[in-house]
Amino acid sequence: MPNYPKSEAILSANTQYIPGGVVSTNRAVDPPIVFDRALGAYMWDVEGNRFIDFHAAFGPYVLGHSDEYVNNAVRRVLDEQRSLYGSGTTTLEGQLAQMICDAVPAVESVQILNTGSEATYQALRLARASTGRSHIIKPQGGYHGWHNDVACNLMTPLGVLGERRVADEYPFLPISAGIPEEHSSLVHPVNFNDLESVEAMCRKYPIAGLICEPILQNVGIIRPQPGYLEGLRALADKYGFILIFDEVKTGFRHALGGFSTLSGVRPDLVVYGKAIANGYPIAVIGGRKDLMDLFVSPDPRRRVLLAGTYNGHPVPTVAAIATIERLAENNGAVYQHMEELGCEMQRGLEEIFKKAGTEAVVARQGSAFCAYFMDHLPVDWHDLAANHDADLDGLIRRELLGHGVYYFQLPMKQCSLSAAHTRDDVRYTLQAVAESLAAVTCRH
Ligand SMILES: Cc1ncc(COP(=O)(O)O)c(C=O)c1O
Repeated sequence: MPNYPKSEAILSANTQYIPGGVVSTNRAVDPPIVFDRALGAYMWDVEGNRFIDFHAAFGPYVLGHSDEYVNNAVRRVLDEQRSLYGSGTTTLEGQLAQMICDAVPAVESVQILNTGSEATYQALRLARASTGRSHIIKPQGGYHGWHNDVACNLMTPLGVLGERRVADEYPFLPISAGIPEEHSSLVHPVNFNDLESVEAMCRKYPIAGLICEPILQNVGIIRPQPGYLEGLRALADKYGFILIFDEVKTGFRHALGGFSTLSGVRPDLVVYGKAIANGYPIAVIGGRKDLMDLFVSPDPRRRVLLAGTYNGHPVPTVAAIATIERLAENNGAVYQHMEELGCEMQRGLEEIFKKAGTEAVVARQGSAFCAYFMDHLPVDWHDLAANHDADLDGLIRRELLGHGVYYFQLPMKQCSLSAAHTRDDVRYTLQAVAESLAAVTCRH
């Protein structure tokens, strides 16, 4: 197993000034590898090792690292001295907003923010302002940011979560200290793919909104069962709550317009981030115009505050414009390329596990894929936590590092292909998985 002495030294030095040495706590992984540079499908660490990157920084790099087209657009904006004026509006903002509205049928108008967490925060505020209610529903296993309304019930161990309780109430299990009881009492976790539990909450509480990833990707890839998203839409209409699709990870990665476009189910509000700007920091909230107009309601009791010094910063804004241009060119050739690679990867992995006699299934949506070491595709967090061999998953991920293949070093996190990956990368990776599996099953 390779060592990473330079990385360890840098982490140790940074830890003196940065708590834990990392600036987002989920980057504290073992082994610590400090990356120095990234281009296309590859990242290089400070030791000089090259890795084929499937982590993609949790999803943004749909075109690959340091995409030339996007970076050139950014350079032009800087050269043209189009800095952040912080006053009035700009043509870039309008151009990006129009591109998104044109790409997504459910989006009638948008606002431009900086991070996914801000966008989910604002979506829940709009839901509360429009309904005059306070309660929120959130499926288990999904991540929607770090704020009080959503920082709960993520990858909770079953020992803490307890028995599966359909249509009953789970406790709010925070992933952060410092969330007041007044907030947690308003948030009601439910099973993903379980309409009954949503309806039970609606009977019990006046629900303002339900926020979910339309395809659950915080814990790999858990698909909505047939009828689930349509059922959520119907319940939203029946009980008058706002249906919010969190497409921070899935939007623009799976299609222009994201998974909602593919599913045909129209949310009331949708949020995007990550792949929309290929690694530049930007997020977008959009949806029904009557809801979005609450940001400018003439009635101060209904108006939702929209503020942000860096909203619409020209650098990420032009990066998003350039990314969408690249994704749209040649009738979506980028998506076609990633679909072909994804298909080859899925088939190859399935073959490897079958040949080795390893119990495994491969979930995939376009460029995103994930192997679960269990006998069926999971339907919710309980299913996954109870059946997936997370130890084997972790060992394979670790072993792959020695082959120069970077899966994020945490079991159950999905892998992402990009436009920059090639068939050779896929074939090399499959060979590396076969060898890694053989090595770890000997020891497991
Ligand atoms: C589905 C989803 N929603 C929201 C967020 C939060 O986005 P950000 O990290 O930009 O605040 C993430 C981040 O991983 C995410 O995957």
